[in-house]
Amino acid sequence: MDHVRIVEVGPRDGLQNEKQNVSTAIKLELIERLASVGLRDIEVTSFVSPQWVPQMADQAEVMQGLRRRPNVNYSVLTPNLRGFEAAVAAGASEVAVFAAASEGFSRKNINCSIDESIDRFVPVLDAARRQGVKVRGYVSCVVACPYDGAIAPEKVAHVAARLYELGCYEVSLGDTIGTGTPGSVRRMLNAVAARVPVNCLAGHYHDTYGMAVANVHASYEFGLRVFDSSVAGLGGCPYARGATGNVATEDVVYLLNGLGAVTGVDLDALVDCGAWISAQLGRENGSRVGRAVLSTRS
Ligand code: HMG
Ligand code: MG
Repeated sequence: MDHVRIVEVGPRDGLQNEKQNVSTAIKLELIERLASVGLRDIEVTSFVSPQWVPQMADQAEVMQGLRRRPNVNYSVLTPNLRGFEAAVAAGASEVAVFAAASEGFSRKNINCSIDESIDRFVPVLDAARRQGVKVRGYVSCVVACPYDGAIAPEKVAHVAARLYELGCYEVSLGDTIGTGTPGSVRRMLNAVAARVPVNCLAGHYHDTYGMAVANVHASYEFGLRVFDSSVAGLGGCPYARGATGNVATEDVVYLLNGLGAVTGVDLDALVDCGAWISAQLGRENGSRVGRAVLSTRS
């Protein structure tokens, strides 16, 4: 049987762009509910500048308030050594560094060029190796960039290979603005897989154009077995205007259940979690599967 690892990014990617203040207590309850439905990898916050992403300013409180379960991996985003050190001091045992395949997005998102961002990651990976902290790598704009337009698959492969060679155990490929289709995603994966083993790749697809489930499926057929998603499809990137949330976790689990893959997630309980957080935020539930399941219950 095929096992698929789902990396739940709702508490980080899903909430980082939320304009209303989301209390630390709600974030912690969301994380706990996600863990209780069987999600084993949860990205819980980011150690970035609070001026840049105010919603993540309570990162240390979130880490402190976690009711850590031994079988759950709680990871965080870190843009530089300062973020890494703060994350480790707060108890993080896995971090993620994030680069982009486009210069325009790199500048807007982390205020430096792609090369400079990789230079910043070198000391992070060195320190992580010394301290036994796992590091995941992200590449944003793997299909297109809101500032630079279409991105060549070879550029994505180049940045992904650099992250992998630096020591990232896995590289997550972000279709940040959700314009990818199975065709463009497959072309991108072909280029990346020539440089990074497929079993070290993850798909991270935003759903702006409604293609994210199709892109997960195409990537699954390509051989990927790790996908990032966000409960109730929460989210959007603060530095990618108009981009909507990640593919909904409920939709990914439903797709994978139908393919006979094993995720370990209880779909019904996950739907409840999606309904709960949508109500807390006063948002429409962004999961098609979530809405459908809920409508059969009423
Ligand atoms: P900068 O302004 O170039 O950095 O920001 P700086 O070194 O000049 O520092 C400026 C200020 O930030 C200073 O404070 C630093 O101390 C502070 P001041 O002296 O002005 O009071 N600072 C920090 N504070 C807290 N934590 C830190 C930190 N580092 C510096 N780690 C920086 C550079 C990278 C910090 C900034 O651009 C930043 O925080 N960017 C984060 C942007 C972000 O979080 N974007 C969303 C996540 S990425 C994403 O969503 C995509 C993804 O989902 C995949 C996909 O979908 O494609 C992963
Ligand atoms: Mg994202």
